[in-house]
Amino acid sequence: MSTLGIGLVGTGFMGKCHALAWNAVAATFSETLRPRLVHVAEADSDLAHQKAAELGFAKASGDWRALIDDPEVDVISIAAPNPLHAAIAIAALEAGKHVWCEKPMATTRADAKAMRDAAAATGRVAALGYNYIQNPAIRQMEALVEGGVIGAINHVRLEMDEDFMADAEAPFAYKNEAHSGYGALDDFAVHPLSLLWRLAGPVSAVMTYQSRPYASRSNRPVETHEIATSLLQLAGGASGLLVANRAAWGRKGRIAIQLFGSRGTMLYDQERMNEFQLFTRDGPEATQGFRTILSGPIHPPYDRFVPAPGHGLGFNDLKVVEAHEVMAAIEGKPARIVDFDMGLAIEDTVHAMARSHSERAWVAV
Ligand code: NAI
Repeated sequence: MSTLGIGLVGTGFMGKCHALAWNAVAATFSETLRPRLVHVAEADSDLAHQKAAELGFAKASGDWRALIDDPEVDVISIAAPNPLHAAIAIAALEAGKHVWCEKPMATTRADAKAMRDAAAATGRVAALGYNYIQNPAIRQMEALVEGGVIGAINHVRLEMDEDFMADAEAPFAYKNEAHSGYGALDDFAVHPLSLLWRLAGPVSAVMTYQSRPYASRSNRPVETHEIATSLLQLAGGASGLLVANRAAWGRKGRIAIQLFGSRGTMLYDQERMNEFQLFTRDGPEATQGFRTILSGPIHPPYDRFVPAPGHGLGFNDLKVVEAHEVMAAIEGKPARIVDFDMGLAIEDTVHAMARSHSERAWVAV
C-alpha cells in the first residue's frame, strides 16, 4: 500500500481536527492510501514542536513555507486563520502539492479566484473543509431528494446559529475586525450554502440584510456583522431563506435545514446530527406525520465507524470521512468534495449577499 505525506498548517480547533482525521482515516477506511504525518507548521517554532509531538508529526516548523519546500509532503491541510489561506494554498499548488483548505476559501473574492485559477493551472486536488456535507444523514437526505420522495423542492429554509458572540460584554476579538471577513456571511453562511448545493442546487439571486447587535466591544467599534438574513432564489426555481447568526444565545452548533417539496418535507439540525425527519403525504391521512430516521450502518459510510445503528457519529468523524474523500480525489477516483470551483461559487454567493446589503437590492449571483 502506498503512502501519502501529510503537511498541516495551524493546530487550533480545526488543525487538531485535521490531525485526528489523518491519524484515523486509514484505520477507518482500510482500502485507502496510508497517510504519513510528515511536517507541521505553527505561528512559532516552539508551538510547532509541541504540537508535532502531541499530534504525531515527524517534523515541525515556525514557518509554513518549510512545508512547501519539503519533498516528503504530498498534501497540505490548511487550518490557519482565513487571511493566510490564499498565500499558502497557491504556494502549495504551485509546488505540486495537493491542498485541503478550511472554509471560507479566502477573505476576498480576488484571492478566492486566484486560488481557483492555481488549482486549475496545476491540476492538483484542491478541496475545502465543508465537513457537514459528509454526514451520512445528509447523504441519505440527498438520496431521498434524488429519488423524488418529497417531490420537487419548492422552498428551503436554512439557519446557522451559535452563541459565541451573543454576550454583549465579551471583549473585542479578531473576528470583530473587518480584516477577518464580513462576519456571519463568510464565517457561517458558507456552511449551509454547501449543504444547500448538495440538497437543492445553486442559488441564482439574493436579497440580504446584515446586522450588528452590539456596536462596540472593549471601547472599539465592531467592524463585522454577526447576523445576516437573506432571501434566496434558487437556480431550480425554488424560493428560500438563509439566516446566519453568531449571537444567538443558547444555540451551540445549529444548522437547521427545512426542505419543502411537492410530496413532503425533510428537516435536519446539526445539533442532532445523527437523525433527520421525513414527512410524506403517502398513506392514510389519519396516520401521517413526521418520522425520525436515525443514522445507522445502512447509511454509508456510518458502517465504517460503528456496526450498530443509532449509536451516532460526531463532528470529528465527518473530518475523517472528508479526509477519505480527499484521498479518493488524489487517487483519481470519484470523490465527494467541495473543490475550488464549487468553493468559488459559494464565495460568489456570499459576496453577492454582501453587495445586496450595501445596495439594498436583489443581486444576481
Ligand atoms: P484557531 O485560532 O483555533 O487555530 C488557528 C491556528 O493557526 C492557531 O493554532 C494559530 O497559532 C495558527 N496560526 C496562526 N498564524 C499562523 C501562521 N502564520 N502559520 C501557522 N499557523 C498559524 O482557529 P480555528 O477555529 O481552528 O480556525 C482555523 C480555520 O478553520 C479558519 O479558516 C476557520 O474558518 C476554519 N473553521 C472551520 C470549521 C469547520 O467546521 N469546517 C470550524 C471552525 C473553524
